[in-house]
Amino acid sequence: MRNIVTGNWKSNKLWDDAEKLMIDVATGIHESQHTDIFVAPPTPYLAALKAQSTAFVGIAGQQCSAHTEGAFTGEHTASMLKSAGAKAVLIGHSERRGTFGESDAVVEAKVHHALDAGLLAIVCCGENLEERDAGQHFEKVLTQLSHAFQNIDASRMSRVVVAYEPIWAIGTGRTASAAQAQEMHAAIRHHLVGLFDASIAESMRILYGGSCKPSNALEIFMQPDVNGGLIGGASLNASDFLAIVAASNEAATKEQQGG
Ligand code: PGA
Repeated sequence: MRNIVTGNWKSNKLWDDAEKLMIDVATGIHESQHTDIFVAPPTPYLAALKAQSTAFVGIAGQQCSAHTEGAFTGEHTASMLKSAGAKAVLIGHSERRGTFGESDAVVEAKVHHALDAGLLAIVCCGENLEERDAGQHFEKVLTQLSHAFQNIDASRMSRVVVAYEPIWAIGTGRTASAAQAQEMHAAIRHHLVGLFDASIAESMRILYGGSCKPSNALEIFMQPDVNGGLIGGASLNASDFLAIVAASNEAATKEQQGG
């Protein structure tokens, strides 16, 4: 299966820097044998940066509306992202759930809109530090996914990707250990067997996010149930992002060689 590496620029970069970063990333990747690569810029730049996207580096939205078109001032729909050139969209990032109050029901609605629009839906989940310390991390994450996927037809799951992002590791410099990531990813995959079936669970990509950087990416991506990463801070620097993409391709190559 191909890995996915997605750069989430969040609310960073003014236009000139954003364009330069996109050009540096796009021109830095001439092939990507084992990894699908996306960049999720701030929405106002998305259509313009589409011009710099390539066969190897696609554009993604950082979120989409829970509504379809109509009188919803300030919102952008999944179909609009698609028509502006996006191939994928992040849904339910912890900053959306936390700072902007997105409930599980809102996340679920967004997943449906993303799939209806023909986008790849990258659905984020993750526990906070309190929940981890209380031993509630599995329950928290698996419950989020049960909600997000409760009414999705199994035939659509090939367009869905899970991103596990422990909140305590996002932007903190504190990364989950490779073993902690693998443990949660394996639990997520097992949960997907119950929600759908074994073949869907086996074929789904589960990304890790949370202070992923060139120095730790390979070890994390080498874990059997980790299929790439969602990269925040390190995606704001082209050479760091390119190094993480290279780590993903290296991990997938080694995996295919059985080592
Ligand atoms: P980080 O962010 O890599 O800066 O920790 C990850 C994310 O929030 O997607």
